Amino acid sequence: MGATAGQSAQPQDQDSRRGGFSSRKVFILAAIGSAVGLGNIWRFPYVAYENGGGAFLLPYLVALLTAGIPFLLLDYALGHRHRGSAPLSFARLRRGAEGLGWWQVGICFVIAVYYAAVIAWALRYTFFSLDEAWGADPEGFFFGEFLQAGDIAVTTDVVPGVLVPLAIVWVAVLAIMALGVQRGIGTVSLVFIPLLVVAFIALVVQALLLPGAGTGLDALFTPDWSALASAPVWAAAYGQIFFSLSIGFGVMITYASYVDRREDMTGSGLVVGFSNSGFELLAGIGVFAALGFMAQANGVAVDEVAGDGIGLAFVAFPAIISEAPGGGLLGVLFFGCLVIAGITSLVSVIEVVISAVRDKLDTSRVTATLVVGVPAAVLSLVLFSTTSGVYVLDVVDRFVNQYGILVVALLSMLAVSWALRALPVLGGHLNVHGRPRMGTGWRVLTSVVAPAGLAVVLVLSLREDLAAAYEGYPTWLLVGFGWVLVVALPVVGFLVARLPWRDGTHLEGPPPGSDPAPPAGAVTTGHDAEGTR
Ligand code: ALA
Repeated sequence: MGATAGQSAQPQDQDSRRGGFSSRKVFILAAIGSAVGLGNIWRFPYVAYENGGGAFLLPYLVALLTAGIPFLLLDYALGHRHRGSAPLSFARLRRGAEGLGWWQVGICFVIAVYYAAVIAWALRYTFFSLDEAWGADPEGFFFGEFLQAGDIAVTTDVVPGVLVPLAIVWVAVLAIMALGVQRGIGTVSLVFIPLLVVAFIALVVQALLLPGAGTGLDALFTPDWSALASAPVWAAAYGQIFFSLSIGFGVMITYASYVDRREDMTGSGLVVGFSNSGFELLAGIGVFAALGFMAQANGVAVDEVAGDGIGLAFVAFPAIISEAPGGGLLGVLFFGCLVIAGITSLVSVIEVVISAVRDKLDTSRVTATLVVGVPAAVLSLVLFSTTSGVYVLDVVDRFVNQYGILVVALLSMLAVSWALRALPVLGGHLNVHGRPRMGTGWRVLTSVVAPAGLAVVLVLSLREDLAAAYEGYPTWLLVGFGWVLVVALPVVGFLVARLPWRDGTHLEGPPPGSDPAPPAGAVTTGHDAEGTR
């Protein structure tokens, strides 16, 4: 493969050419921006409610502390020590592990393609909120007039109302990506995350002031303790934590590679992990306060107004907006928050692919952005602006989450812990500048407890999916956009890993200066150098 040919070339130059965040603060904001996304605002409230309400918080916290945070720190250690995209970081750990990185890159490409479509819907709904365009029938409007969802079939019937905002989302995101790590992603995070926090707090306060808000909070927080004995509840908690923290699919490896070598990655990880969960709880409170209002206004139980993920955001919320005093503002805040949170997550997901292409081919950022972004945007437009886009989206989302992210996360943990026995050195790396220290407890969680939890989750999901067709969809749709996709991702990933690296790429071992950390002032990530290439 010519892989190790140029190990003595100048890794410091290579490091600085990749770009980086200008400070720890920018990195933390970008990482929170990645974690806080559509998963927090429309997914968490519904998942918590369906899985025992208040009792879900216990499995959720257990999953966060035993798997989420330990795995987040593993991702950080991999990227920060090896100073590369997911494939390069794995290749530097062991050449044979590179395929795991490309598998994660493939998952990110797929997520980006459909995630942009949901942001486009939210963008459109931000404007629909102004005049409550959905009228008296938000459900009929969403699936009918807006998405024009027809038969589940391969179709070329384009829906202009989705095509235009989707094209706008892609142009905006690719412009951000072309600007680079600090000037693009860093600046967007510095502006959008404080804005998101302020807008979301305003939204939650407005929701809490609605009559009936308490009924909604009761529904969310009244525990159904029997749920704790239910395996699917635990499965849902683990699934939610991995998607929500953006772990297991390369994002945190990539972002950590852009952080100065002397930073405390452990402390940053704790800030990111707990901020994400805090935001998630706030989203649960805001959304259920609004649902409580709706339930009281219609004299029905809260579970009759709470739908599934897509329904909750685009069907139940418009209904609430129509009935609530000051509903237009509530709508602009809610859908505006979805757009902002979605964009800061989408840039992190697409950055995984762009940074991998840059590392492998040594292309400029603009070239890599076009090489990755144009096919992703075209696929996104072709698949999701047609009348059957919503069904394809539902299937891809479900399969890539369950059998993409969770499987590659499980195998990465097992490979790093047991096959490569790298946990002591990675923990040692975190401990050079980080506190609290990662010792035996972290290693046991990462090598035994978290993989065991994930394995149980996967077996349960598989049993469910083999017993009954997901959502009753036709087999061709589930096979074509579900099973084939999740099998193709690792196959393609390990094939791409066989392609040679460009001459001079340092592999098999961290670049000089990573281990142990250099003295202060010796090496930086060169955060501004990138834009000049
Ligand atoms: N972590 C992102 C989300 O929650 C992907 O949506």
